[in-house]
Amino acid sequence: MKLFDVYPINDITIVKAKGSYVWDQDGQQYLDLYGGHAVISIGHTHPHYVQRITDQLNKVGFYSNSIRIPLQEELADKLGKVSGRPDYQLFLCNSGAEANENALKLASFHTGRKKVVAFHKSFHGRTSLAVAVTDNPAIVAPVNQTENVIFLPFNDEAALTACFEKEGNEIAAVIIEGIQGVGGINVAEAGFLQAISRLCKEYGSVFVADAVQCGYGRSGKFFSQDHAGVDADIYSMAKGMGNGFPVAGIMIAPHLHPKYGMLGTTFGGNHLACAAALAVLEVIEQENLMTNANEVGNYLMSELKKIPQLQKVRGRGLMIGFDVPENLKDLKKNLLWNQHIFTGEAKPNTIRLLPSLALRKKDADEFLEAIREEINAMKTVNA
Ligand SMILES: Cc1ncc(COP(=O)(O)O)c(C=O)c1O
Repeated sequence: MKLFDVYPINDITIVKAKGSYVWDQDGQQYLDLYGGHAVISIGHTHPHYVQRITDQLNKVGFYSNSIRIPLQEELADKLGKVSGRPDYQLFLCNSGAEANENALKLASFHTGRKKVVAFHKSFHGRTSLAVAVTDNPAIVAPVNQTENVIFLPFNDEAALTACFEKEGNEIAAVIIEGIQGVGGINVAEAGFLQAISRLCKEYGSVFVADAVQCGYGRSGKFFSQDHAGVDADIYSMAKGMGNGFPVAGIMIAPHLHPKYGMLGTTFGGNHLACAAALAVLEVIEQENLMTNANEVGNYLMSELKKIPQLQKVRGRGLMIGFDVPENLKDLKKNLLWNQHIFTGEAKPNTIRLLPSLALRKKDADEFLEAIREEINAMKTVNA
């Protein structure tokens, strides 16, 4: 049987990984500034993470949500402390799309309303409602098309206010990434997030903060929306939550009440997933990874700003983007094949850096030296 061919891939097979580095089958080492799409939060094969999952696997790997799973309570407790929201409630699932799907469904149950506000260049996943609030018609199948979603310009407070004045009483939720990832590292302004919070309160709508990519400490604070000093009603989380183990969830404010059967999943919150998620939070705390993301991220951004060929260096913590001009359009490819460095991209011309939160300054320096070298080599070829 052939694989269903939906992913454009690089012809590289990774056989070993440690910290911010991976190795292919020929022993070639790569610096990983992509983290398998912002997933590797505490570093590849962190010993505490490997140990905790191994220990759990030797006890019990899975049982369904029909029994008590104390690890879920332990995780909820820890997450409440690390995120600074001990009064929130946790629902566990398996992927970012599923987290957003549940967040929006819960918002609709809670308000009895159907409409959702989303923003230009948003990405929230590929399942039915998650893809409907994603601003990319190419990945929305006819069955996912709905008139219930209103797309507004990002960071446009006037447009948001006008929308609420017109139909605020029909809006179940506003969903926003604190820093747009797939859309090209666009940071939501503090004033804009504050306006969402205020309008949602005023009209009884639910503020859903998609923290799937920008959350879990990546921005230097636990949720990137925290930089604006606001509390969302629901936070969706995935990616960095399990450092590669598929685990996701939503954190739900106390005024949203559960009912049996309202949400559910077979695999969500299983023993192994909880062990992985706990290990991640323990390492984030023990190794001060949010502080590290902030410090190394600021350093990296300020050094990148000194490279004149790179345009609009932006982001927060270790979620960084910059644009490359047309004459350097092969930069990402050349970084991979000549310098053995993985980076991410956003169409049309943005390079995205989404490394582990444990990236060291010396890893950042290695990247900076490599990028300068590649730009110089490309200048020579282009001259
Ligand atoms: C902001 C955001 N939300 C949701 C998703 C969907 O997550 P998943 O691929 O785990 O379904 C992604 C994935 O890239 C994302 O970046």
